[in-house]
Formats: sequence, C-alpha cells, structure tokens
Amino acid sequence: MNTPGASMPGVSSAAGSQTPRFGILGSGKGSNFRALAETFQQGLLGSEPVIVLSDVETAGILDLAKGLGIPSHFVAPGPFRTKMTPEAEGEIVRLLEEAKVEFIVLAGFMRVIKEPLLKAFPGRILNIHPSLLPEFRGLKAWRQAMEAGVPEAGCTVHLVDEGVDTGKILGQSRVPVLPDDTPETLHARIQIAEHELYPRIVRGFAQNLLGENPKPHTHEPHHHREATP
Ligand code: GRF
Repeated sequence: MNTPGASMPGVSSAAGSQTPRFGILGSGKGSNFRALAETFQQGLLGSEPVIVLSDVETAGILDLAKGLGIPSHFVAPGPFRTKMTPEAEGEIVRLLEEAKVEFIVLAGFMRVIKEPLLKAFPGRILNIHPSLLPEFRGLKAWRQAMEAGVPEAGCTVHLVDEGVDTGKILGQSRVPVLPDDTPETLHARIQIAEHELYPRIVRGFAQNLLGENPKPHTHEPHHHREATP
C-alpha cells in the first residue's frame, strides 16, 4: 500500500506487526488527522494511519487522505443527525477490519459511536475533545468555556464509551483564555494544543498495545485470578 512513510527510514514495512495500524474517522477539515499523519511521516507515531472514513462526503479529511495516498471512504450515515444507522456502523466496522486496524482514532467525528463499533473495538477507540473534561462535554466546548468565564481551557484525549465525552481520560493540555479572546481565537489556540497532544497520546497508546496482545479480534479468554480471602 502506498503510505506516506513507506519509503522513509525507520518507517519501512519491515516494521510490520510492530507498528499497530489504526483507522481515522472524521467529519471535518481533518487538522488533527494531518498532525497525526505528519508525525507518522517523521517516524515518530509508533503506529500507522491506514484508512480514513467519513460520514460527510465533502469533508476535507477525505481530500487530505487522498493527497497522502491513504485509502479513504465516505460511508453514508443514514437519516439521523447525531448517530449512524447500525448498518452504516456495520459497514465502518467491515472496512476497518478489512484494513486490519487495531484501534480507531476519532478526529472531529460528529456522531455518537454505538454498539457495533464499541463491541468490535472495545477500549480501542480514542477521541479528542476541545475542553478539559469532565468540564464542557458536548458541542462547541470552547464556546461553553468562554461563556462560563473560566481562566483556562484546553483539550482532552479520552477513550470512547457509550456516553458522550465520558470515557477514561488518557491525557490533557491546558491553554489560557486571554482577555480579548473570541470563541474563534480560543478554538484556534486549543487546536494548536490538540495537534501536539493527540500524536503524543496515540504514540503512548500504541506502545501500550504492543505491551499487551496486539490483536484485538482474537477474543482470547481472560484468565481471572481468584480473589484472595
Ligand atoms: C477538534 O477541535 C476536536 O477537538 C473536535 O473536533 C475538532 C476537529 O477538528 N472533536 P479537525 O477536523 O481535526 O481540524
């Protein structure tokens, strides 16, 4: 496959199974995906973006992927505004499994993730949210922060569970709210922090995966240790 780092020293296919593969889901311009891809190209991501999927046919993230030679697909989400149909999620699962990804990175994906994806990749879906969670869950979190008058905002990378922005926190970056900020200038400052935070957390997550069982779909039985009395 034609991946951006494939011809670069240290990012050869010889890395093979030592480099966990991941898929990206995004609905927007894809600046976080760009930061991840650039870190991969520098040989510093410890994992490889291999497929980009979007619920928005015209999303910039799909064009970015094409420019980088990473396979990309639009998946029609169905009639709901905030979630996909089970069939659409099933198609996303199929594409991700076909691409042999071990984890998923949400980068500006604007729909709630439901059971088909959560079940197929348990504990293996990451998201970045533009607030210091647990504060300001949901949409336009930077605007919520400004309206609340907090002195500090930021961004959070977390695991995705069945809630909205509720999963286990993997890392955060803080940014100041300045006196003359508008929602737009604050969001821009948060995004700069996101582009540093997300690659760093993805690298750590991939390293942890290699320390565990790198195959998500083997469903090996867990060996429960008996509780000691
Ligand atoms: C980011 O602000 C992220 O925190 C939120 O959606 C936005 C995506 O931006 N989840 P981009 O498409 O990566 O530029």
